[in-house]
Amino acid sequence: MEHARLQVLDARSDAARCPVVRSFFDETTFTATHVVHDPVSRQAAIIDSVLDYDPASGRTQHGTAARIVDYVVAEGLTVAWQLETHAHADHLSAAPWLQTQVGGKLGIGRDIVRVQSVFGKIFNAGTEFARDGSQFDALFDDGSQFHLGTIPVTCLHVPGHTPADMAYIIGDAAFIGDTLFMPDYGTARADFPGGSATTLFASVRRLLTLPDETRVFLCHDYKAPGRDYFAWETTIGAERASNVHVHDGVDEATFVAMRTQRDATLNLPTLIMPSVQVNIRGGRLPEPEDNGTSYIKIPINVL
Ligand SMILES: [Fe+2]
Repeated sequence: MEHARLQVLDARSDAARCPVVRSFFDETTFTATHVVHDPVSRQAAIIDSVLDYDPASGRTQHGTAARIVDYVVAEGLTVAWQLETHAHADHLSAAPWLQTQVGGKLGIGRDIVRVQSVFGKIFNAGTEFARDGSQFDALFDDGSQFHLGTIPVTCLHVPGHTPADMAYIIGDAAFIGDTLFMPDYGTARADFPGGSATTLFASVRRLLTLPDETRVFLCHDYKAPGRDYFAWETTIGAERASNVHVHDGVDEATFVAMRTQRDATLNLPTLIMPSVQVNIRGGRLPEPEDNGTSYIKIPINVL
């Protein structure tokens, strides 16, 4: 925890370590994809990309991801990383397609292997599905560090929504995945297999020890009562002051009771079946069957 605070303070000491962030919001899945780059080296990371998927036809398209490519090319960026904050249950990752267009190593939290194990069983995947994270180029641990050009990056393990969630602290900007949402909306659900409201509370409190000025970029927004536009950027200070679920002063028992009660009312995401099966494979479709076609399974009466 202290480690992260020191790292970010260090980053703030140099104005050049403020990355440029451009976000692309997909209103179909309510997902914000962030393209973050170092203005000095123009090295970039693409965080939580979206592959378009029509569940009725089973057809994928690249229109949303192509907007990212257009931006990267127009800005003259070199993509060093395709980062996932976690294995998403509400959209398919476009990372493998984006790699073919603009490159970048694919990274995720090391505990993806736990998610692969849980969902490998649920979907009765065969032995061709490796549960060792080998579908990714890099598996990050809590405290892993690297540089995006001249800007330091620290990875924080922030489980609870899933066991493998990571936050990426890039200079003065935190990309926190499904943990906190906008202050007026609250927090991510914690009821998926392997999720835990108690663990999520600890992760959120840890994020809230970052400096108040830290720019916070969210993975999702669903608007909120009284707000008729989408928003995906806030600050640690704003979250601490007014997050409706976990502002300063809310204790663990109160949060867990609220989160558990709310999660019991939520439907599963429309795209959970295809999303999970693709995303635990690093965004690749399941191995084609002997006719050359990939299939998505639906376990009946399991989830
Ligand atoms: Fe998620």
